[in-house]
Amino acid sequence: MSALPTVRTIAALRETVGAWRKDGACIGLVPTMGALHEGHLALVRAACAACDRVVATIFVNPAQFGPSEDFQAYPRDEAADAEKLAALGVHLLFAPPVEEVYPPGFATTVTVSGVSDGLCGDHRPGHFDGVATVVSKLLLQALPDRAYFGEKDYQQLQVIKRMVKDLDIPVTIEGVAIVRDPDGLALSSRNLYLSPDERRVAAQLNQVLQAIATAVAAGASGDAEAASGRDALIEAGFESVDYLEVRDAETLAPVDHPEHPARVFAAARIGRTRLIDNMPVPTA
Ligand code: PAF
Repeated sequence: MSALPTVRTIAALRETVGAWRKDGACIGLVPTMGALHEGHLALVRAACAACDRVVATIFVNPAQFGPSEDFQAYPRDEAADAEKLAALGVHLLFAPPVEEVYPPGFATTVTVSGVSDGLCGDHRPGHFDGVATVVSKLLLQALPDRAYFGEKDYQQLQVIKRMVKDLDIPVTIEGVAIVRDPDGLALSSRNLYLSPDERRVAAQLNQVLQAIATAVAAGASGDAEAASGRDALIEAGFESVDYLEVRDAETLAPVDHPEHPARVFAAARIGRTRLIDNMPVPTA
């Protein structure tokens, strides 16, 4: 049993965090959907290093899953997650039930246009509305000084940064670098779905992105490199490629020959698993 104090209501969360705030503590928030891996733990470590008090949240948010997506099957193991969070020094876990977050009569959706369009926005309709809605709620419930999100979900990070700016939410959003397995596969809770054969194929995603990023940095066309990268992924064993594109790192606008920081973004499907990854185009 973990010794991590856990609250399940917004009132209890506010009571604890409010007392810390009165004492002048710097408060960090790490929102997650659980099934914690080293990628999440990197967020927790960054929060614990910079903040006096750290709240982690575990909430599998139904609003960000499409009707044919894996909401029911999404891995859940709160006890194991709580052990990991306690070991790293997290002070409080907020793990509310669905009805605490979305009570009867709930009728508000937060939509961030522009950065939500394209990439995952095109392939997961409503996904970023669900993310922006729940993250705005979590930020307003906990009122942290800093909140931590992984660069693996880079479009999500840009959506959250835009939302916080546009809604004047008084929090600093911190992006944390992707954590990868030794063969380059970005850590994801959904990697648990991969069979051993699929896991071997999955590592190619990182290699294809790396090759594109290197070629574009050397002056090649992002569009042309992405087109051959798509063929390479199918040849490697992916069933389909939702997108493989070079985009501006801040606005997420498509770019062929980037003049500002850019990243390569991909989502590809293998068996029942959809993997996403991204990486920067190196600059001189
Ligand atoms: O990245 C995630 O795990 C989720 O999208 C988040 C930010 C916790 C919102 O549900």
